[in-house]
Amino acid sequence: MPSPGREIILGVGGGIAAYKSADLLRRLQDHGFLITVIPTRSSLNFVGKATWEALSGRPVADNLWNNVASVPHISLARTADAIVVAPATADLMAKMAHGLADDLLSNVLLASSSPIIVVPAMHPEMWLNPATVANVATLRSRGILVIEPDEGRLTGADSGPGRFPTSERIVQELSEHLGARADYVGKRVLISAGGTREPIDAVRYLGNRSSGKQGYALAAAAIARGATVTLVAANSEIEDIEGVTTIHVQTAREMLAALEGNFSTADLLVMSAAVADFRPSISSTGKIDKHELSELTLIENVDILKTLHAQRSQKQVLIGFAAQTGEQALSKAAAKLEAKGLDAIYVNDVSGGAIFGADSTEGSIIDRTGNITPVATTSKDSLAHLLLDVARTKLG
Ligand code: CTP
Repeated sequence: MPSPGREIILGVGGGIAAYKSADLLRRLQDHGFLITVIPTRSSLNFVGKATWEALSGRPVADNLWNNVASVPHISLARTADAIVVAPATADLMAKMAHGLADDLLSNVLLASSSPIIVVPAMHPEMWLNPATVANVATLRSRGILVIEPDEGRLTGADSGPGRFPTSERIVQELSEHLGARADYVGKRVLISAGGTREPIDAVRYLGNRSSGKQGYALAAAAIARGATVTLVAANSEIEDIEGVTTIHVQTAREMLAALEGNFSTADLLVMSAAVADFRPSISSTGKIDKHELSELTLIENVDILKTLHAQRSQKQVLIGFAAQTGEQALSKAAAKLEAKGLDAIYVNDVSGGAIFGADSTEGSIIDRTGNITPVATTSKDSLAHLLLDVARTKLG
């Protein structure tokens, strides 16, 4: 599953600054963007296809006439959340301004309705030429962000406006233009999702109704904000999110092992999984005859949050969930926050099975100081961002 809002096409034009685009690609990846590169034919004289494939980790299409049956320019244009043209030559901007489309990149640009960001790089004479000035004005009048080039030394002895800007400035202007938040860059976020299953035999298990939707929404939100994300998913049918390291587990004990293996390096743990409190004392690899199954003895599972709390460092942030029913939902959740050493807990009323498997949620966030923030019915995606906002204020 692609990470929502983070799919970028990097169109590379035929200028010497194409090599600087390799660093730009890396910085964009650091901010959680997933990159598909479309180089123009002439740019391949500067940086070859193999470099783009290795850096992006994706196949690189450079020809309009490959895979014609799948209409690649239309499908690429539709999947992109933004297109960054870097470097943009004077020729490429002239083509864009006039709607010309004679190769894959110019076709994708013409077919796309996503935001377009253009990073020009050329000699000052070409940048200041009235034709280029008019083309840049046309592109800007259509809402395209044309980033001002830097001034300074260019190839040869020339100097003036036309240098490819620093990757940092491009990423900053692009993030502002897209309204993309990047407040989790450099942070490691560990998330649990789904519901554990405790086997009785080869066929039966003790389980619960958690779908994993909230945990996956948290993982998608965290990666969208630039975090490095590990998701420990128990029995969820949701497709893995590209860019998120997903560890699939079944039982509470497997979940504990996977989380313990990743906890010491995590800045934030969000424990949204529904962990089975008990497991059967028997667990057979074969199928047990029903006559031998009239009674089950249970053994208490370890409390994962309590275990990890005991291993935590001061700067780590822990957020838990509480599925409650009935009147004392808030006080019971507050007691869990205390007992498990959490920085915040999200409590939802799951009476009658509400919330499980749904796309929306409703509840309250309680923090250490006892502040209660009610959350009116909202999507699990928005709740994910809300919880990340809460955690962000607690992270250094
Ligand atoms: N949790 C955990 N390990 C367990 C049980 C729960 O880490 N063995 C975590 C859950 O992931 C959740 C929080 O603790 O973040 C609260 O879970 P919940 O099931 O609501 O509470 P329990 O402590 O299991 O208490 P009870 O089932 O009695 O309500």
